[in-house]
Amino acid sequence: MQHRGSTAEVTDALLAEKRPAVGGVPALAALKSTSRGTIVGRSPTICGALATLERVARSTCNVLITGESGTGKELAVAALHDASPRAKKPLVAVNCGAIPESLIESELFGHARGAFTGAHAARAGWLAKAEGGTLFLDEVGELPLSMQVKILRVLQQKEYSPVGDSHVHRSDVRIVAATNRDLLAQVAAGRFREDLYYRLNVVHVHLPPLRERPEDIEPLVRFFLRSFCDHLERRDLVGIAPEALEALKAYDWPGNIRTLENAIERAVLLSDGPLVEFEDLPPTVRGEGRLSQPPPPPVERPLPDTGIDLRGAIQEYENNMIRQALDRTKGNRNRAAQLLGLNRTTLVEMLKRKGL
Ligand SMILES: Nc1ncnc2c1ncn2[C@@H]1O[C@H](COP(=O)(O)OP(=O)(O)OP(=O)(O)O)[C@@H](O)[C@H]1O
Ligand SMILES: [Mg+2]
Repeated sequence: MQHRGSTAEVTDALLAEKRPAVGGVPALAALKSTSRGTIVGRSPTICGALATLERVARSTCNVLITGESGTGKELAVAALHDASPRAKKPLVAVNCGAIPESLIESELFGHARGAFTGAHAARAGWLAKAEGGTLFLDEVGELPLSMQVKILRVLQQKEYSPVGDSHVHRSDVRIVAATNRDLLAQVAAGRFREDLYYRLNVVHVHLPPLRERPEDIEPLVRFFLRSFCDHLERRDLVGIAPEALEALKAYDWPGNIRTLENAIERAVLLSDGPLVEFEDLPPTVRGEGRLSQPPPPPVERPLPDTGIDLRGAIQEYENNMIRQALDRTKGNRNRAAQLLGLNRTTLVEMLKRKGL
């Protein structure tokens, strides 16, 4: 992903967003450049998360990072590692959910020669590869209980043994864990060790989903646009049409920043220039296909023998859905309208009519 952070060949017009800085944060809002990409945003939550990471970087305390998929957990770990005294040592990222249970132990701790069939030579594990640096345990909630005990030993005693090797190896790594699950619920269900949970969770940094920090959408869009234009050598593409930007801001981004990034890459590829237009956006963002999935059937209520006031019941249902949509979007009518499959103007008119 080397397109990111390359500011050398910037399309001037994209950069030239001559608006005054908002609350002291420049419009482009590149907050931090890390070894794995640039962190962009201007919301208080993302600024706060970064500040926490930088504050705890000096120590070796364990950090737990939570957030939905695509919210930037890996970038956050890179920011922490880069700001720490371990920056020149390796940052090793391991996705605990992606490795079959039978292989995790030898992948993590390494193995001795002859430890199992096919182990022709001794092999170092991730822990050894991260020595002196940072080990990032992504999807930590997926670790089987048998491995959780062994990780706890590394955290408490700073030691481990490779598979088939009775020697005790010393380990100096900072462990950062991430999860998009509710670990406490896992603890309650007996699937995650409580002692390990508290060991990992000395400092907790939560990265909220993009729908809870819509003010980050525009700087992210401009940043991705600029980097994909550089990367794909689209010098003819100089910006984004207001209607397209509005649609991007109104969408609720269930896949978070990763999907936003993909949407911009796609738009840069499809666009005829000079601006990214509404038509260049993915159908989901344009609001198409949203209603093709029928909503779950409402609870089937028997029709009372005395009959019902059908129109009244429908009104009640309508009002309830509108209220929920507005609550969920914190009163943002654009996004509420999208959630309801309505035009903004239709929603505004309904609100007026209903006096909501
Ligand atoms: N604040 C941000 N600024 C710029 N790019 C970002 C930001 N947050 C995330 N990204 C980009 O979005 C993509 C997803 O980020 P990342 O891999 O860090 O998410 P994640 O939380 O680890 O997701 P998952 O849970 O799916 O592993 C990456 O390409 C990353 O560079
Ligand atoms: Mg990740």
